[in-house]
Amino acid sequence: MKLTVVGGGSTYTPELVDGFARLRDTLPVEELVLVDPAAERLELVGGLARRIFARQGHPGRVVTTGDLDRAVEGADAVLLQLRVGGQAARNEDETWPLECSCVGQETTGAGGLAKALRTVPVVLDIAERVRRANPHAWIIDFTNPVGIVTRALLQAGHRAVGLCNVAIGFQRRFAGLLGVAPSEIHLDHVGLNHLTWETGVRLGGPEGENVLPKLLAEHAETIAESLRLPRPLLDRLGVVPSYYLRYFYAHDEVVRELRTKPSRAAEVAEMEKELLRLYADPALDEKPELLARRGGAYYSEAAVDLAAALLGGGGSTYQVVNTYNHGTLPFLPDDAVVEVQAAVGAQGAAPLPVPEVDPLYAGLMANVTAYEDLALEAALRGGRERVFRALLAHPLIGQHEYAEKLTDSLIAHNREHLAWA
Ligand code: G6P
Ligand code: MN
Repeated sequence: MKLTVVGGGSTYTPELVDGFARLRDTLPVEELVLVDPAAERLELVGGLARRIFARQGHPGRVVTTGDLDRAVEGADAVLLQLRVGGQAARNEDETWPLECSCVGQETTGAGGLAKALRTVPVVLDIAERVRRANPHAWIIDFTNPVGIVTRALLQAGHRAVGLCNVAIGFQRRFAGLLGVAPSEIHLDHVGLNHLTWETGVRLGGPEGENVLPKLLAEHAETIAESLRLPRPLLDRLGVVPSYYLRYFYAHDEVVRELRTKPSRAAEVAEMEKELLRLYADPALDEKPELLARRGGAYYSEAAVDLAAALLGGGGSTYQVVNTYNHGTLPFLPDDAVVEVQAAVGAQGAAPLPVPEVDPLYAGLMANVTAYEDLALEAALRGGRERVFRALLAHPLIGQHEYAEKLTDSLIAHNREHLAWA
């Protein structure tokens, strides 16, 4: 099996490689290709990847290259984990929206729109080249904003599934709190990428007993603390929102915080320097502790499970993925991309039925879906007015004066990445 990672020079890659090495019985990778335009960085990451494979006795070959077409030739699956403009562009996304007292974040709000505009054309070009090389290859998209990027891929007819680690993170955390194996936990996970709620926590599978009430009765304090939301709010909701919902439920508080501390991009840039220094050490042959301070925990497990299900030819398994709604959430268009539990197998991902969703969550999902629709329009077709419409539609922006000002800022800060600007 040949697997290609686009953005393979990312400091995240050792996390992924560690997963491939540990889980080689689930996913027998013979050739792992890391492709990245940043040659120096790629060699550091590639070197460590080879040492991780060697240490764990993995027979697979690690290839590094800057040549995308060569990299995807004959690949069974292609993982996309790129970041157009790097942490520098992310730093901007996290900063200029604050001028309007709007959250500065790389996937939520105006910053997320900027990222979508930079990313969608690049990803579509890569996907086209993947399809040319091998029309049967699966594309696994971890590139943010995952919902919008996955929708762009699916609309263009690609064999793509979007992936995020929020659900697997909750699965692992809840398993720990309940003292059961992670594989025992099945989440009723519903929403859009980075806009999700855990409405049930089941033991054994989709039909299993719902232990969410028990989990909240015993651990609401711990869970609320980790989400940085007030405990009484969690008690009233009776479901567990993802930590991205803090940008909505505590928007103004987050804005105040963001104004007083360095951006996450700046923090990550520092960490990346240190990580690359560690990767350069020929004695290092495992992922370093420091990597755990990035947000990508369990990303490798989720990616291995997904690739194995898509390529394995075995039975299907349940996994939380991003795919077409197709009636799963009846209040959203069929061609919206939702993040839900799905049966995943060689044919792709088929969402499981979802019980009726409380309007408290459905309303926000519908609003953000409309924003994502307009965001994709803007990303595909460009133009100031399309950017304005997407911002005006966003529930965290909404006012015309803000939308106007943010449109100008978005364009000014991203000109070099926008072909039409
Ligand atoms: C989580 C999210 C990812 C995001 C990452 C950011 O893993 O699900 O979509 O890219 O956090 O982590 P970072 O360490 O870059 O802040
Ligand atoms: Mn994510």
